[in-house]
Amino acid sequence: MLRRHFNRDECEEIFKKHQIYAIIHFAGKKSVEESINEPLKYYENNFIGTFNLIQLCLKYNVKNFIFSSSCTVYGNRDDRPTETEKMLFPINPYGRSKLFIEHMLRDTAKVNIDFKVALLRYCNPVSAHPSGLIGEDPFKKPTNLFPVIQNLIRGTLKEMTIFGNDYPTRDGTCIRDYIHATDIAQGHIIALKIFEKKMRNYSMRIVLFIIWELIKAILLKK
Ligand SMILES: NC(=O)c1ccc[n+]([C@@H]2O[C@H](COP(=O)([O-])OP(=O)(O)OC[C@H]3O[C@@H](n4cnc5c(N)ncnc54)[C@H](O)[C@@H]3O)[C@@H](O)[C@H]2O)c1
Repeated sequence: MLRRHFNRDECEEIFKKHQIYAIIHFAGKKSVEESINEPLKYYENNFIGTFNLIQLCLKYNVKNFIFSSSCTVYGNRDDRPTETEKMLFPINPYGRSKLFIEHMLRDTAKVNIDFKVALLRYCNPVSAHPSGLIGEDPFKKPTNLFPVIQNLIRGTLKEMTIFGNDYPTRDGTCIRDYIHATDIAQGHIIALKIFEKKMRNYSMRIVLFIIWELIKAILLKK
């Protein structure tokens, strides 16, 4: 795993050394706020980084590709279409970088019959492995809700801001959907099996919470 800026030559060394069965492509920048302030950084890192990776896959005959997409590819359409594909209208550069990558992968798979792609659009992964060895503990200032709440509990953060108070919910805060980190891991294993069986569709378990109720529930348990 390369844990820094994408370097095509360095990455190619890995392709040369190993016979790779599948790529699970987690590497990407993911801050909505940062992407709005520095869009090119996101298009360069996420889009061009993935472009290079796909080229290497084709060059070294890597046939299976699982991409960490995001629910940020969906927009805020008022007419709420029932088909998810009609809801694709990202409203920030991060989401657009993910959607552009999805298109690039689909287009590539269309003309390279052996190249199989799974696009997993996750929303708000939370929690940790039951062992406690793997969990969310970002180096930088966290922007995801759960690490922010954790920092409040630890006392490293004194207060947090809840955005929005006029949503049509019991307390006016918005509804977000969450998925457990181990369910995401399971989803990737299923996707690998789908590649083998050539099955097409499956869905992941998602839990919906109203933000303020969720925060209260966690803080009151403390
Ligand atoms: N956490 C979420 O809320 C969420 C939601 C939906 C999708 N995703 C996607 O899932 C993936 C993983 O998310 P995460 O929460 O683990 O993020 P993270 O920031 O904790 O981890 C991403 C890792 O990728 C590395 N990276 C970034 N660009 C790279 C590059 N060009 N080359 C090599 N390494 C690079 C970073 O250094 C970091 O270690 C990301 O692609 C993200 O967009 C995350």
